[in-house]
Amino acid sequence: MGNKIMDWVDARLPVTQAWEKHLSKYYAPKNFNFWYFFGSLALLVLVNQILTGIWLTMSYVPSAEAAFASVEYIMRDVEYGWLIRYMHSTGASMFFVVIYFHMFRGLLYGSYKAPRELIWIFGMAIYLALMGEAFMGYLLPWGQMSYWGAQVIISLFGAIPVIGPDLQQWIRGDFLISGITLNRFFALHVVALPIVILGLVVLHILALHEVGSNNPDGIDIKKNKGPDGVPLDGIAFHPYYTVKDIVGVVVFLFVFCGIIFFFPEMGGFFLEHANFEPANGLKTPEHIAPVWYFGAFYSILRAITFDIGPIDSKLGGVIAMGGAIAILFVLPWLDRSPVRSWRYKGIISRTSIVIFAFVFILLTWLGTQPATETYTLIAQICTLIYFAFFLLMPFYTRWEKTKPVPERVTG
Ligand code: HEM
Repeated sequence: MGNKIMDWVDARLPVTQAWEKHLSKYYAPKNFNFWYFFGSLALLVLVNQILTGIWLTMSYVPSAEAAFASVEYIMRDVEYGWLIRYMHSTGASMFFVVIYFHMFRGLLYGSYKAPRELIWIFGMAIYLALMGEAFMGYLLPWGQMSYWGAQVIISLFGAIPVIGPDLQQWIRGDFLISGITLNRFFALHVVALPIVILGLVVLHILALHEVGSNNPDGIDIKKNKGPDGVPLDGIAFHPYYTVKDIVGVVVFLFVFCGIIFFFPEMGGFFLEHANFEPANGLKTPEHIAPVWYFGAFYSILRAITFDIGPIDSKLGGVIAMGGAIAILFVLPWLDRSPVRSWRYKGIISRTSIVIFAFVFILLTWLGTQPATETYTLIAQICTLIYFAFFLLMPFYTRWEKTKPVPERVTG
């Protein structure tokens, strides 16, 4: 009976075919390690954000008069409202933790290199959309940091020559950040951007399944196939990796629940202290800091403290920040190494990746701190290293001596 129903459906919609193509007959390299958990975890967090977001929307009121109070109402009066809100706020930060690990994996193993450039480009588009999503979501509780954080970021658009001031007003929909801004950010946060992100994730995975997954050795497993046409170093995604990924999910949920139940504010990093005070356009907080996940790019923005010819420091900062993100898009074409994985790259690449990771973390932390003279100097040095890592990559990846890559995966 079951088979008959399935045949009937399959004749009309290729469900079994899709199941086989993407799961039971999708052969993934057998040497996936810790770093390969983060793709499925990103999917998990995405689902968490959408579900908790829908439930928050049921009680949240997107108006300047009622937004802050409606969040307090969710926290105190709505049944399990506190849990739903903490799952959503913690989920936002954990999304970036997971995504940064996921992107770093790509960097370690050269997963962005041919033929996987499109997977990386879709990934970067997701990252951009995610930054927009997080930025707009942060305005919604209408706290002091929501208001002043948005003020800082929107004012950056004002630095663009000629169209800047008009653009700023167009984004706000008003002469200052107001309920009108809040309303449009709400629409974009709950409807527009989630659709864009979901669409991009589908494209990201379709592009991945077209060429197949990379692996920690950076070897093309399709080169060594058995008589049945299945790669010798490949195993079926389902059941092997669906089951393995559950291990990652369980560990992740321990951490996630630990934060939600014991440290939902995470010392002011996940929920900032100033945001427990309602937005007040007449009172600027002493220290405006973005949420930690924007820290690195915010540091790069603030590192440009000097005018460069006709470009004033503010516009210079915006260009540097934009450039820091834009350069990631072209990474597949900056890496000219004959090998993919850092396991077989030369000493310069290997050291550079470690230094880059350190510098990125340092920039992230500096972005959450007040810009003192010493911190600004450190941020400037880190900014230089950040750009040097990418701009010198075409040279050191071509010149350095690489190690021989084995024929089969090493485990
Ligand atoms: C909502 C966000 C995202 C989701 C749900 C997602 C999902 C996935 C999944 C399920 C995989 C396959 C499993 C794995 O390799 O871990 C994958 C692979 C990949 N993703 Fe993402 N991803 C996201 C964002 C990104 C971003 C921001 C980038 C980089 C800019 C990126 C780059 C890659 C690359 C290069 C691969 C192939 C890795 C390999 O085969 O070694 N992804 N992604």
